[in-house]
Amino acid sequence: MTKIPIIIDTDPGIDDAMMLTLAFANEGALDVRLVTTCSGNISQDKTNYNARSFLSYIGADVEIARGLEQPIFRELEVAEDIHGESGFGNVQFPTPTLLVSNRPAVTAMLETILASDEKITIVATGPLTNVAALLLAHPEVKTNIERISWMGGAAVGGNMSPSAEFNAYVDPHAVEIVFRSGIPIVMSGLDVTHKAFVTIEEAKNILAIGTEFAEKAYHLVTYYLDVIKRTPFHEANYDQVLHFHDVCAVMYLLKPEYFKGQDCYVEVALEGVTAGATVVDYTNRSGKMPNVHVLHTVDRGAFVAEFVKAVEIISDRLE
Ligand code: RIB
Ligand code: CA
Repeated sequence: MTKIPIIIDTDPGIDDAMMLTLAFANEGALDVRLVTTCSGNISQDKTNYNARSFLSYIGADVEIARGLEQPIFRELEVAEDIHGESGFGNVQFPTPTLLVSNRPAVTAMLETILASDEKITIVATGPLTNVAALLLAHPEVKTNIERISWMGGAAVGGNMSPSAEFNAYVDPHAVEIVFRSGIPIVMSGLDVTHKAFVTIEEAKNILAIGTEFAEKAYHLVTYYLDVIKRTPFHEANYDQVLHFHDVCAVMYLLKPEYFKGQDCYVEVALEGVTAGATVVDYTNRSGKMPNVHVLHTVDRGAFVAEFVKAVEIISDRLE
């Protein structure tokens, strides 16, 4: 099986850490060339520290570059109410051994993409500020980008405002730049990520793996249990579920057969009360060419089983 070369742009963040777990447990299928951090869940200082701390802890050996401090136009709004002041709830990871790259994120992305013999897939699980800045400054990279797998947006509802999902809400202008870039985009919006959930019982199965890493993963994912925000029509019949939003952006690359989606024209609202709303034209009323593959369905059982396997792989590596 040929490995998929990827760059991960992330704002860890609890579910970002779960996404990194899946990615680095599958190094036989994914070739992680670079990790860049964006400002989102918490500030750039904290997301970069958390990325280095978590990836050092799981034994990853990868360059981690700092991204932009602020969204393109809007003031940064963080989600410490969900992820905690540290971004990892009340879970501690050791002081990082991985150092901050001496290349800023945009430069590291540019040089990594242009130096690659194969087209690079970008996994983005926070606001798209870094990716948009790269495309604005260096449009020449587009020819060597395979696709962008982004967790963000929603066809219905929102979790940061009634109509906007957090990553799109924080930097809608970045979404606009990326969505009109012509690069193939797979969007794991709330429509699919609210079906990609783990129940509290399933979380306890993760705890039952019995390793230090499994215990940390359990306390990470159960931290935001009580503050989770749901979109309307939430299908879960459980009273306590944990949405693995960011995990979808990597799971799709590993197991596309777990998902269903549709090519749609998607536009983003930039200002006003609907700022950050991703308007998904499911029925092609606009007559405009689809620019995004919007995911809406996932095989939840298979998704959870694959994630638990990743926790076991990382646990075995650390024991
Ligand atoms: O709306 C969910 C997204 O916002 C996830 O990426 C989560 O980490 C937060 O950044
Ligand atoms: Ca995130």
